[in-house]
Amino acid sequence: MAAGVALTSMVVGNDVALDVGTAVTRLAVPDRGIVFAEPTIVAINTRTGAVVDVGFGAQRAVVESPEHAVAFRPLAKGATVDFDVAARLIRAIFERAGFARFGRLRVVMSVPALATPIERRALRQATLQAGAGEVSLIETPVAAAIGNGMPIHEPQASAVVTLGAGSSEVAIISLGGIVTSRSLRLGGADLDAAIATMLRQRYGVVVSLDVAASVKESMGSALALTNGQHVVVPARTVGQGRPVTVEVLASELNAALHDVMVATVRIVQECLGDAPPDLAQDVLLHGLTLSGGHAKLADFPALLARETGVAARVAPAADSVVVKGLERCLEDMSSLHALFRNAER
Ligand SMILES: Nc1ncnc2c1ncn2[C@@H]1O[C@H](COP(=O)(O)OP(=O)(O)OP(=O)(O)O)[C@@H](O)[C@H]1O
Ligand SMILES: [Mg+2]
Repeated sequence: MAAGVALTSMVVGNDVALDVGTAVTRLAVPDRGIVFAEPTIVAINTRTGAVVDVGFGAQRAVVESPEHAVAFRPLAKGATVDFDVAARLIRAIFERAGFARFGRLRVVMSVPALATPIERRALRQATLQAGAGEVSLIETPVAAAIGNGMPIHEPQASAVVTLGAGSSEVAIISLGGIVTSRSLRLGGADLDAAIATMLRQRYGVVVSLDVAASVKESMGSALALTNGQHVVVPARTVGQGRPVTVEVLASELNAALHDVMVATVRIVQECLGDAPPDLAQDVLLHGLTLSGGHAKLADFPALLARETGVAARVAPAADSVVVKGLERCLEDMSSLHALFRNAER
């Protein structure tokens, strides 16, 4: 009898919180927490077409045997660009998380507020094709607000800024829904691309986007406060591909970040400008809460505070706020039903 009860609870415990990001995919399971947080990459065998591995393992597979494995990134700018590959990635992640023989998997997943109806359908269908029995979508800013523990059902306003690799969103949330929001299909990955372009134009060298990202993480600043410092970057010459190192000034690096920073400031200003006066008062009082990996760029909150006049802070564990919010939703599916319907336009 006791064994029967245990088995039943294992079978029923098929709830999954899933945040498929442009750069990183995260999966959390109630009671177990985050069980997968790795790059949104799947390696496919070039001969058989079978999935070799996902995440870090996929990165390793293509380095170790490039003749046998090729890497795919099925998302760009917050949207699914390769439906079939996305479905296979998600299925492999379910398997990795221990849902190899999943029955009726109930999945709550985030979708950027900027996603079109076609993009929402593609994400849902890819997850169903991956083996999910039921998929509920929640808009990223709402999931972030829940993950931050904000009082989203109250008449007061909560202001969230989610900054990812391929998308940036700002939303004011009150009474369980988004009152006003703005989005941009730009994020941390665009900073990496801007840095790589600058190095090519100014120094005649090529760097991988991963190297550009690590330079950004070590020395980038949204307010250019690191100017004066420098960093030595491993690169290859354009043309011959000769390995070289170049000494890059932070002032050059930060200049390359400028356009994305300006565009991000603008959407936050516009969103705040749209807020009804009483909610704008709340936002002034409580400030902006930033989440997402890109929010960890040095001085990002200080830039937004300076340009909007509203205090800003980065949420603790900023990268995992969205998936934690989704996990909370699973714990309280019924009372949040209206939010799911809103996202499923
Ligand atoms: N310390 C850091 N400083 C600056 N940027 C960082 C730092 N750590 C991570 N990032 C950037 O954060 C981004 C990844 O953030 P996140 O995981 O939130 O994105 P994502 O969810 O995959 O993307 P999206 O939500 O746009 O689809 C990458 O561009 C990465 O370079
Ligand atoms: Mg994200």
